[in-house]
Amino acid sequence: MIHLDHISRKYGTGEAATSALSDLTLDVPAGAFVTVVGTSGSGKTTLLNILGGLDGDYSGTAVIAGKNLKQMNDRELSRFRNQVVGFVFQHFNLLEHLDALQNVALSTFFSREDTQAPERAEEVLARVGLRDKLRKLPGQLSGGQKQRVAIARALFSRPRLILADEPTGNLDTNTGSQIISLFESLNADDGLTVVAVTHEEFLFKNATLALHLEDGRLVNGQNP
Ligand SMILES: Nc1ncnc2c1ncn2[C@@H]1O[C@H](COP(=O)(O)OP(=O)(O)O)[C@@H](O)[C@H]1O
Ligand SMILES: [Mg+2]
Repeated sequence: MIHLDHISRKYGTGEAATSALSDLTLDVPAGAFVTVVGTSGSGKTTLLNILGGLDGDYSGTAVIAGKNLKQMNDRELSRFRNQVVGFVFQHFNLLEHLDALQNVALSTFFSREDTQAPERAEEVLARVGLRDKLRKLPGQLSGGQKQRVAIARALFSRPRLILADEPTGNLDTNTGSQIISLFESLNADDGLTVVAVTHEEFLFKNATLALHLEDGRLVNGQNP
């Protein structure tokens, strides 16, 4: 699912350049549950941005779901970002004036008419346990429920790969572990490949691969 070959990413040039990722080589099979840990600034978000086709300014080769990201044109890349990958963020990134259904189906507001959209939005909200919150605004939901809406939004386009950047970072431990159970179920029951950046590695007990980044370098990639 993920093949990275000697990936490096620098910000800036010359003396001021920061090496965000250095010479990362990695193979992740479809169906894996990958956690990424490391201190702040170690390159975790940079790695996710490259995996999701959000950042193409790297050296080396990245092949995700059979696609060499560097060989895609803008159209193909945007298709890849919208349909192959689902993103989940620490701060949920929901639009406050839209209800749960609208937040989930948001991507169809900007693309061609999709008559199945409302039905599918309802389906993914049910999948994350929010069947009875379809018409709630984010302000009427708890943190854990907001993150469930964000996960439903990520599932909406039926992606194969979920990229989650500190998805429990804004939640208490108990709520966080429920969100992790949901990711585990999406992996085990729905067959999604999951890559989750986390500070709370103790919560992710069922990872198939635990990556540890230090100053942009992979210091381990063990199968626990
Ligand atoms: N847009 C940017 N411009 C300049 N430097 C950046 C930018 N984004 C990240 N960096 C630097 O790259 C390194 C890795 O950052 P990041 O991937 O955000 O780490 P993490 O997510 O692990 O906290 C850090 O040194 C950070 O300061
Ligand atoms: Mg980060």
